[in-house]
Amino acid sequence: MSGAALRVALIGASGLLGRAVADALAGDPKFLVTGTAHTRPGPGRVPLDLTDAAAIASFFDAYRPQAVVLAAAERRPDVCEQFPEQAHALNVGAVERIAHAAREHGAWLLSISTDYVFDGSRAPYRPDAPPHPLNAYGHGKLAGERALTPSLDNACVLRLPLLYGPLEQVGESAATSFIPALEAARADRPAVVDDWAIRYPTFTPDVAVVIRQLLERVAAGRPVTGIHHWSGNEAMTKYAIALELAARLGLDPAHIRAQSTPADTTPRPYDCHLDSASLEALGIGRRTPFAQGLDAVLDELRIRKSA
Ligand SMILES: NC(=O)c1ccc[n+]([C@@H]2O[C@H](COP(=O)([O-])OP(=O)(O)OC[C@H]3O[C@@H](n4cnc5c(N)ncnc54)[C@H](OP(=O)(O)O)[C@@H]3O)[C@@H](O)[C@H]2O)c1
Repeated sequence: MSGAALRVALIGASGLLGRAVADALAGDPKFLVTGTAHTRPGPGRVPLDLTDAAAIASFFDAYRPQAVVLAAAERRPDVCEQFPEQAHALNVGAVERIAHAAREHGAWLLSISTDYVFDGSRAPYRPDAPPHPLNAYGHGKLAGERALTPSLDNACVLRLPLLYGPLEQVGESAATSFIPALEAARADRPAVVDDWAIRYPTFTPDVAVVIRQLLERVAAGRPVTGIHHWSGNEAMTKYAIALELAARLGLDPAHIRAQSTPADTTPRPYDCHLDSASLEALGIGRRTPFAQGLDAVLDELRIRKSA
């Protein structure tokens, strides 16, 4: 595949990760990108409901993608517990539909999955480690991965951990969603934040670089297939993240209390550190230090608030 730009469908271009990928590919003459969105269409994003099989078929016929990045999902564990059918329609049904369409069109498919396919008791995890999800989100995403098995000769699963990056609103990332609680905390009413589970916050623009490099390999006729991992390498609890946020937002750290035992209603794994060696061996990847990434995210939020 040389000369003409690679036709890329970016499914879920309006999401936290999808926007970073769209930014990383924008203006690159190697790629002709069509983004899709559900409730947030806009410039560069055509509307596509992934629960509508006919709409998916029409989309593929219209844009004839040669590579597909599937970044749409229901990623909120509590919502997956409460609304299992709705979550299944997206995290499993949509993967099946997209995988079918990609196979029909001979397109390489990259499907995004999660570290929550593991139970967190035996980190670090290589891509071939046995999965054992603890909650509905992890079960659904694992079923989505398995829906891809017949396609894996021309498809790739990329598992990722906790993501943070440029935001439309703080609730989009589990690394920033507790900012309102931190801001509301007082000496007699502290914010209680988990200091038990180990997370590896991963900057969405870094994941976007990984995805761009994977697409470059598709364009060069050397597609990566199978299951792969990408992760930041700084181990942090949400409490440690909260202290970093407080320092930058001028909040009193004395108003934040560490919760040293798991307290979530939805069970979450302890430590799912993803071993990224299979992509590193291909020269793929970039890691922005957490402090630098968080500064960039908060600076952008401040600029937007003051505009
Ligand atoms: N966020 C994390 O910390 C994290 C961690 C590990 C893995 N992941 C995985 O990374 C991927 C991206 O997650 P994210 O955080 O970017 O998710 P997100 O911000 O919640 O974005 C979800 C995307 O899915 C789209 N979508 C939702 N329902 C749809 C439907 N019925 N039809 C078509 N599109 C629909 C949304 O479109 P609209 O907004 O336009 O409605 C949006 O573009 C997911 O596979 C997730 O499981 C995320």
